[in-house]
Amino acid sequence: MNYSDTERVETVLEKNGYAKAKTLEEVDLFIFNTCSIRQKGEDRVHGLLGKLAQYKKANPRLLIGITGCMVRQTSSRNSENNVKDKLLTTAFNLDFVFRINDTHKLAEVLAEAEPQLELQGAEEKPSENRTDYLKVDPKYSSKIQAFVPIQIGCDKYCTYCIVPYSRGREESRDLAEIVSECRKLVENGCKEITLVGQTVNSYGLSDLDKKSARFTDFTEQPFIKLLKELNALSELGLSRLRYTSPHPRDFTDELIEAHANLKTLCPYIHLPVQAGDNTVLAKMNRKYTVEHYRGIIEKIKTRLPNCVISTDIIVGFCGETDEQFENTFNLFQDLKFDHAFIARYSTRKETVSEKYFQDDVTKEKKAERWNRLNDLLVATSTHKNQAYEGQELEVLVERFNTLTKELEGRSREYKLVQFKGDESQVGKIQQVKILKGLPWVLKGEI
Ligand code: 5AD
Ligand code: SF4
Repeated sequence: MNYSDTERVETVLEKNGYAKAKTLEEVDLFIFNTCSIRQKGEDRVHGLLGKLAQYKKANPRLLIGITGCMVRQTSSRNSENNVKDKLLTTAFNLDFVFRINDTHKLAEVLAEAEPQLELQGAEEKPSENRTDYLKVDPKYSSKIQAFVPIQIGCDKYCTYCIVPYSRGREESRDLAEIVSECRKLVENGCKEITLVGQTVNSYGLSDLDKKSARFTDFTEQPFIKLLKELNALSELGLSRLRYTSPHPRDFTDELIEAHANLKTLCPYIHLPVQAGDNTVLAKMNRKYTVEHYRGIIEKIKTRLPNCVISTDIIVGFCGETDEQFENTFNLFQDLKFDHAFIARYSTRKETVSEKYFQDDVTKEKKAERWNRLNDLLVATSTHKNQAYEGQELEVLVERFNTLTKELEGRSREYKLVQFKGDESQVGKIQQVKILKGLPWVLKGEI
């Protein structure tokens, strides 16, 4: 989501005469697009702000701003006056902040921070619609791949998670607008589109969506309808459609069928489970059981035997006992994920778990649990990757590594594949024979 948002910020900046700086000394404007999912990310931003002091000293015109999840005060107060954000008093060296959904009004924010600047002003009339900023055409960083946001915010309120507070209520983007952005992309040579949102499969189903009257026909799950419309872009050259992330609660049989029937929809599903114990899941407010999750995975494996599956897990959530962790370990062992993002629980301010639960699993316990899951993951992913040896995979070549002289890209299954080749292959789709399966990468040859 942040990659995609940054591409929109770039468009507004270019319209106002900014260009990418080649060296740090040359920079007149820094904007940090921040992530708050864990404390570590926020700490890093504060550290970088400190390091920029020397550049500020050398260049008095230098402006430093923050957007993204760290800008919370302004969004929760819904204030028009961005200057009021608490960050401006707590962060070092900071000149301005803006909410990411005010990207289309960024010129105004900059003009306020630096009155001498002559900027064009807002792109469009200020409006109350939070998804309006998505109408800014992004300056896509790749010609062949694009992230396209389909919803903002999240209404699920998992007790550990800051997203509903930092990104606000869930609201979906107009279907026609998404299709039109994707069509333009494909007409310009884009081969792979990844739809992004916090819980993509509840697209069109949030409270605000229902109130907006933009979604009226529920004979079909709106997310499936969207996938079907986008799949039709294969005629114009779209080869791969992906999405991230779905939530187990809205993961329907129809979505599995869509994978079986829509030729652009890739055989890869990232379905965050978070924990393998019902008490922990309930305390996390995930609103599904381990049995329900296992049921979905079983159906995927039966209907889509070649589908790669990955997940997110949090270890050391408030009050997680050894026994409860064993249940997560067992689930992990049984389901044999191809990949997983394993996180140690970290307290986030404002969340239910910060207010009402104790972060009582020791650092050492969290590390031990993380290591056990990670060891298991290395073993399963190696085993799974070895099974590709001798097979041919279709790889979309993303980059050329000048040091190793190797090309790198992803297969339809989202497996990272490296193989010898030359730079002219970048952006093309190649058939690659897999020679060796390693834990995180497949080595092959054209
Ligand atoms: N602590 C640790 N991990 C977290 N995640 C979200 N909030 C927290 C937190 N407070 C993880 C979840 C989510 C992923 C994006 O980040 O696993 O799926
Ligand atoms: Fe956070 Fe839960 Fe929403 Fe994911 S579904 S963004 S974990 S609140």
